[in-house]
Amino acid sequence: MGSSFLLFPAIFTYLLFFRISMCFYSTIAQQTGTTRHYHFEIQLHNVTRLCHSKRMLTVNGKFPGPRIIAREGDRVVIKVVNHVSNNVSVHWHGIRQLLSGWADGPAYVTQCPIQSGQSYVYNFTIVGQRGTLFWHAHISWLRATLYGPFIILPKKNTSYPFAKPFKEVPMIFGEWWNADTEAVINQALQTGAAPNISDAYIINGFPGPLYNCSANQTFKLKVKPGKTYLLRIINAALNDDLFFRIANHTFTVVEADAVYVKPFETDLLLITPGQTTNVLLKTKPNPFNTTFLMAARPYFTGQGTIDNSTASNSLPFRQSTELLFAANFSNKFRSLATAQFPANVPQSIDKHFFFTVGLGSSPCLKNQTCQGPDGTKFAASVNNVSFTLPTTSLLQAHFFGQSNGVYTTDFPSFPITPFNYTGTPPKNTTVANGTKDTSILGAESHPLHLHGYNFFIVGQGFGNFDPQKDPPNYNLVDPVERNTIGVPSGGWVAIRFRADNPGVWFMHCHFEVHLSWGLKMAWVVLDGNLPNQQLPPPPSDLPKC
Ligand code: C2O
Repeated sequence: MGSSFLLFPAIFTYLLFFRISMCFYSTIAQQTGTTRHYHFEIQLHNVTRLCHSKRMLTVNGKFPGPRIIAREGDRVVIKVVNHVSNNVSVHWHGIRQLLSGWADGPAYVTQCPIQSGQSYVYNFTIVGQRGTLFWHAHISWLRATLYGPFIILPKKNTSYPFAKPFKEVPMIFGEWWNADTEAVINQALQTGAAPNISDAYIINGFPGPLYNCSANQTFKLKVKPGKTYLLRIINAALNDDLFFRIANHTFTVVEADAVYVKPFETDLLLITPGQTTNVLLKTKPNPFNTTFLMAARPYFTGQGTIDNSTASNSLPFRQSTELLFAANFSNKFRSLATAQFPANVPQSIDKHFFFTVGLGSSPCLKNQTCQGPDGTKFAASVNNVSFTLPTTSLLQAHFFGQSNGVYTTDFPSFPITPFNYTGTPPKNTTVANGTKDTSILGAESHPLHLHGYNFFIVGQGFGNFDPQKDPPNYNLVDPVERNTIGVPSGGWVAIRFRADNPGVWFMHCHFEVHLSWGLKMAWVVLDGNLPNQQLPPPPSDLPKC
């Protein structure tokens, strides 16, 4: 089985086929609102943070990039013009893209990148979603600077399922790098070592007062006492889950990934890259002229696989308070599950899959020295397959029946060789090389993101998934519906989704470093029989490779 992997590791991309089963939404891609036009000019711009100036990629010279604001039911048309030398593509993270897969954006998955001097018009309708999402570049590490909020308001004359806030404020978390992030990741991929880390975390582009030379680069939110603010929180950081809190205040969480949730209170938020959430913040009634600190700091679950270049043989798995907080916190998210906002959880399952996700290693080329674990290169995989992007787009190859030499469809639905996935790492952590053992190099949390769908998180736990004992405990009543879930460090999640949107859909870890190392795969969802179950042909300006 494995030896066929050995033959073509760098050429073939493994895909999973999935046939559309049963019902399609009859409302598919139906525009009920207006059309909103945006212009994204990808251009270089000087930005200074931490007393360090750099010329970096921006949209329209803004950092973070411009906000997109639309209503549920609107059509959104964004013309992206590339004025820089890099290849670029933009992804509308979390947008369902019903029958509009050509507008999804991941480079070499649904489109070839937009080359220098070229442009592409992304055209899609927002169906059945309302809340906060974001957009970001989806090629190499360009999303380090190319990102911005995507705000979906309810339909006209429709209100929130909570009291109307006094004001709404987008809060987008990111990372600031003094270095050029393209140089950082390219060098890391060359040497096999873990890439350098960023110099600061930023909120709405600003590092806050706690770093060197950042005193007057702070995002300040001026508020009135005794009012309710809706904070639209987005984690656009490249590689870190983030905690967020505001001194002396609590939040009421009301929405996640553009789906309303049952409101709950918390004084501490945990948000993975790729996740978005709306929270209500009630300001204190009395104090005038008081300042409260807001702070975002990282949640680390790695076991030194990031800083330490040698693979450890024992798994220093710590059942720390942070891990428990993360599990409890993620359990608090529940769908509204009302008549108006039902939780359409699939109750019967046509196809089961079991994926292991984690880090591993790949061999160093002859005559090269590598700086990854034990002189190898860091790699990451799903079911031990480390995904390699093709040089054309998967969706084009699929749509025009030209998959030969681009991808194969024998992606394993289950780990080829079972082992103790959350115990001591196996001796052999080499990915996709035809030897035994699926590889996991130390446990770490992974924010798994699926394009083109929301999924329901019906179960989660620590340790290994038990196919006998765990499914009876699934929540099939009001599980949260999201597009990104933090798979617990040394644990599992069970997700369900209905494959009702034909196309090729990327699924990957939203830590950019793990994405670069291959923790990614794609689903091919075939057309259904009815006309409204078929992916239309690509727009005429679809970029060429
Ligand atoms: Cu926000 Cu494929 O990513």
